[in-house]
Amino acid sequence: PTYKIGYFVGSLASNSINRILSKALIRLAPEDLEFSEIPIRDLPLYSPDYDSDFPAAGTDLKSAIESSDGLLFISPEYNRSVPGALKNAIDWGSRPWGTNSFARKPTGIIGASPGSIGTAVMQSSMRSVLSFLDAPQLNTPEAYITFSPDVFGDDGEVRNESTESFLRHYMDEYCAFVQRVLDANAPGHI
Ligand code: FNR
Repeated sequence: PTYKIGYFVGSLASNSINRILSKALIRLAPEDLEFSEIPIRDLPLYSPDYDSDFPAAGTDLKSAIESSDGLLFISPEYNRSVPGALKNAIDWGSRPWGTNSFARKPTGIIGASPGSIGTAVMQSSMRSVLSFLDAPQLNTPEAYITFSPDVFGDDGEVRNESTESFLRHYMDEYCAFVQRVLDANAPGHI
């Protein structure tokens, strides 16, 4: 079967290393996964005032999430947490109350930074958010990527064999996880 994966890049930077990482992950993913980006750049800042008359930007985001079989978050760490633009998109997808689009969606969280912590603190913060939103998460392997321009080409080529095989392994495990969650969500499965 083919699974539709909606992915979020948590950076708005034109030279984002996380966007490069997203390209590498798409290159190395199993063929069963079909990727489309869920854009976050043009969302207004969420306010509950929008709930009574939800704008198209919000409903488009929610349908993109809901029509995905799985979600992948590829994000930097900002000040030891989730970047505001990405958190804003998550807040939009979680509302209006009672229509949380993330419920039961299989998710993966990965990120790159130039430093050796490799977005670990952002990922831990993201796990709290996604747990609250009832989104199952790939727990193992964890992927904390220290970005080096020697290893990653601009189009997502990976020039280091062990990095390449680790990222390939991550995407294989992510694919198997999406399949397990979808099977568990299927009608008739207790
Ligand atoms: C950062 N950076 C950063 N790095 C990190 O490892 N931990 C952190 O808490 C932060 N905090 C932080 C805050 C803000 C506002 C900025 C702009 C940057 C550095 C960050 O990892 C680096 O800029 C990456 O290149 C960001 O990823 P993108 O945008 O290139 O994908």
